[in-house]
Amino acid sequence: MTRKWPLREMALAVEGVMAEHSSEHGAFESIGMGADGTETLRIDQLAETAILDIVDTIPGGLNVLSEEIGWLDKGAKHTLVVDPIDGTYNASVGIPFYSVCLAIGNRTFSDVEEAMVYNLVSGDSYHAVKGQGATMNDRTIRTRPYKEEDSLYVLYSGNTASERAHELTKRPRRVRALGSAALEMCLVAQGCADLFFQDGYPLRITDLAAPGLIVREAGGELFTSACEMLEMRISLEDRKEILAVGDATALDRLYMAAMNEACDTGGL
Ligand code: IPD
Ligand code: CA
Repeated sequence: MTRKWPLREMALAVEGVMAEHSSEHGAFESIGMGADGTETLRIDQLAETAILDIVDTIPGGLNVLSEEIGWLDKGAKHTLVVDPIDGTYNASVGIPFYSVCLAIGNRTFSDVEEAMVYNLVSGDSYHAVKGQGATMNDRTIRTRPYKEEDSLYVLYSGNTASERAHELTKRPRRVRALGSAALEMCLVAQGCADLFFQDGYPLRITDLAAPGLIVREAGGELFTSACEMLEMRISLEDRKEILAVGDATALDRLYMAAMNEACDTGGL
């Protein structure tokens, strides 16, 4: 698979930042409001700076859209869409499940051409190139066929999740809620889970661009809670409730259970 952009180098730079700084006093202190409207912690900013240092070395340059700093227009054709740490809360309390999300696109979700989600605890690396498939640690991954008796839903939960998301916890054989939307979508891509649903607290392109391409290239698809195939601008202004599914049966089961209606997508 062609690796056109230095996404792995950026991921390893963030891993280095975590190793060096995450146990320092004040690493998880708020230092202000990020461009996405949520708090930036010192560690988020350090991770972002490590990525931007690599961007500065790329011939021809890259625009950047990142959760903390926002939009950096370098007059380039391509844009790096970044969440420097996805799952910062997990990192701050010592839950070992958080990642960095990196995607190269242009104007919209559907034109993302290369993506990486890197698990900052295990070192597992999910990578996809548009039209060339998805890998985990360089081995091809595929979503799994839905089997009712073995179904596993990954559901965003807590008091900001929707009622219908809570209702869904009773349906499948197993449920998980893990706190890094990007890695949770990668579990769908990898064929460990049938779907991921975040409803009640919409996600931004910085959380979606990278895992979205990985899910698609592994054979799955992303939808909005209104049963539309996901599309959004590369901008921090758009936010969407999302459903990532491994196959059409998973989509159908969730949609019937949560919305009490069919979601006819014309086939996955
Ligand atoms: C958060 C995580 C979390 C999701 C939130 C996101 P952050 O990202 O992905 O799993 O439920 O909606 O904001 O704040 O850790 O980058
Ligand atoms: Ca983040």
